[in-house]
Amino acid sequence: MDAGESPSSGTIVNEFFHRVGGHNTIYLFDETTICKALLPREFYFYKRLKNSLRSFIPDYKGIVKIDMKDEERIRAYRVTEADLSATDLDFTKEYFSPEIVNDIYKKEESCDTSKSDKEINQQTTSKGPECSSQGLADTDKLEYSAYILLENVSSKFINPCILDLKMGTRQHGDTASSVKAQKQMERTKSTTSSKLGVRMCGMQIYSEAERAFRRRDKYYCRSLSVEGFKHHLYEFLCNGTDKLRVDVCIDFLQRLKEMKQVIEEHRGYRFFSSSLLFIYEGQLDSPGKNRTNKADIDIRIIDLAHTTCDRLLHKLPPYEGPDEGFLKGLQNIYDFLYEFVERERKI
Ligand SMILES: Nc1ncnc2c1ncn2[C@@H]1O[C@H](COP(=O)(O)OP(=O)(O)O)[C@@H](O)[C@H]1O
Ligand SMILES: [Mg+2]
Repeated sequence: MDAGESPSSGTIVNEFFHRVGGHNTIYLFDETTICKALLPREFYFYKRLKNSLRSFIPDYKGIVKIDMKDEERIRAYRVTEADLSATDLDFTKEYFSPEIVNDIYKKEESCDTSKSDKEINQQTTSKGPECSSQGLADTDKLEYSAYILLENVSSKFINPCILDLKMGTRQHGDTASSVKAQKQMERTKSTTSSKLGVRMCGMQIYSEAERAFRRRDKYYCRSLSVEGFKHHLYEFLCNGTDKLRVDVCIDFLQRLKEMKQVIEEHRGYRFFSSSLLFIYEGQLDSPGKNRTNKADIDIRIIDLAHTTCDRLLHKLPPYEGPDEGFLKGLQNIYDFLYEFVERERKI
């Protein structure tokens, strides 16, 4: 248990300030940890993450249940997977392969792939009433929502410039309803997703002169053309001035190169609707610059609620090869950054 967290009173959490995209509230649990609403597929993806992807994905740190009854003092209580109810792992919305279902409930018998969705749903929802962890013992009559705890990747920065780029040419997951899939396909067509394999979802830029963050929300970002995307990518990389942070671009290019190699190796993976979170230190004269735990740049893959791989399959056969839509987006971002740096060098 972390300092300041007691099992009965929980931890008071506040809205996370550095959220640039998405639509749901994210809470700050402690300086290095955020809470995001638990979505079954994302939860299992984090839990079963391969080592080879770890350096590109935030660390998974556990589960909490959040009590929002008192809006002034929203509390999070640490729980274990055994404390989650069938509603938390809403299997009617998400389909898991029998393999993962068996694994969740630690069944030893081999997988029965002939089971229907309905049977699997019944199997997983038969867990019975929600049980309480120690921390919830005297408060279990309250309404709680389950959240996952994730590494706060912006915590290593003092005044972080952050960009959320939604990746890929397809956004809907395998379990999306046809209405949802249709809506998502229209959105990929009407944004830069289909042409570039990437679109902007929001950003914040720290301006030293103003000592403040400039923000662009997802509605603004969604309207961008290819040229608009390029323009705002450049703007993001200028740290609130009109001068490109070439140092930052070079570090981003190196990290993108490493990421491309890793994604190419992950055959059968599809990161539908995931985002790349780009972060760099916006405070140039930052006193923390020499502190060992501070970073200059980072890029992570986030928003994994529709990701699929061999253990999170909706249906057979599995996908073949790497996620080409994601790679297309990576390549375009790489090319734009490269072009910006080259242009700057010629000036
Ligand atoms: N691990 C993290 N560390 C720091 N910021 C994060 C992290 N995960 C998400 N965020 C912030 O929250 C925003 C929304 O997160 P996301 O996972 O995309 O949620 P949603 O499912 O609502 O789209 C991101 O744009 C980013 O600013
Ligand atoms: Mg998102």
